[in-house]
Amino acid sequence: MNKRGILVLSMAATMLLSTVGCSSSGGDNASGGENLPKIGATVYKADDNFISSVRRELEANAEGVAELTVDDSQNDQAKQLDQIDTMIAKGAKVLAINLVDPKAASSVIEKAQAADLPVVFFNKEPDEAAMASYDKAYYVGTISKESGVMQGNVIVEQWNANKDKWDKNGDGKIQYVMIKGEPGHPDAEARTEWSVKTVNEAGIETEELAIDTGMWDAAKATEKMDAWLAKFGDKIEFVICNNDGMASGAVASLEKEGYFSGDKFMPVVGVDAIPEIVTLIEQDKVVGTVLNDASNQAKAVIDLSLNLANGKDAVEGTDWKLENKAVRVPYVGVTKANINDVK
Ligand code: GAL
Ligand code: CA
Repeated sequence: MNKRGILVLSMAATMLLSTVGCSSSGGDNASGGENLPKIGATVYKADDNFISSVRRELEANAEGVAELTVDDSQNDQAKQLDQIDTMIAKGAKVLAINLVDPKAASSVIEKAQAADLPVVFFNKEPDEAAMASYDKAYYVGTISKESGVMQGNVIVEQWNANKDKWDKNGDGKIQYVMIKGEPGHPDAEARTEWSVKTVNEAGIETEELAIDTGMWDAAKATEKMDAWLAKFGDKIEFVICNNDGMASGAVASLEKEGYFSGDKFMPVVGVDAIPEIVTLIEQDKVVGTVLNDASNQAKAVIDLSLNLANGKDAVEGTDWKLENKAVRVPYVGVTKANINDVK
């Protein structure tokens, strides 16, 4: 359907709904006033910075074309499985699932398969065996390694341009601390590995002073950074964070210790390019990030879900390319130099 058609349809639906005085959100269609396909979606944790953007974009893309419900699984896999049962009972035509535990894909697939429903996983990539076990399972996300390599490239570029000041002990190596995302999460594992590998492959030696998980969370990252600053102080020459939420948490800790005023400085990098970090880059409090494209990932989730709900091929009529039942949205490295492109 073209945009105009969608608009007319959605206006008609709105008028009809206001006449009968019922709301469409999550309703069971008892009035029969609307027959947009039902997409049952979950997010693993609605207060995750990046995921909250994805959720907003899912809702925006579904407007007028699908009846979308998005459940917050509150970081509880058992709760998510119950939510999926409810969605199926309420007549979902397709499931769009952001797993809590990347290893729980097979439990979700069992439910989808029993109801003969397609399932589009997003953001937390199921393992290959689970994906291969069901022909109606798809994935929308990224290539995790790519974000690690791009973050590594940002570190190399920034270090080479500033090492006279940043190599505080003058040994030519980067003494860094690493704030990791959720252990076992494909993005967290790949970013941790490939950021540093990329720096080393560029000929820069590194020394890891400390590494721990901040579970993607700003407040947890502030706690870690507080402890590491107390222990290592200016021995730390770089703060590498698996995501921007944690980078902003690290910056909060550093600010308390007087960094980013006068010539007291600490290079910090993240991943995601959430609006808060874009601002911190402009203020020279974060040296770079990697755009995790929430908008296109959400668009792909809705496009695939809609096609599958309508019994079409997953990518029919779209520009998405399926490779091994997955759509991969590219990352983009971001520093102050190209900040306007991501804004
Ligand atoms: C990553 C993202 C993190 C976090 C995580 C949740 O792709 O970079 O910030 O949102 O997904 O699964
Ligand atoms: Ca050094």
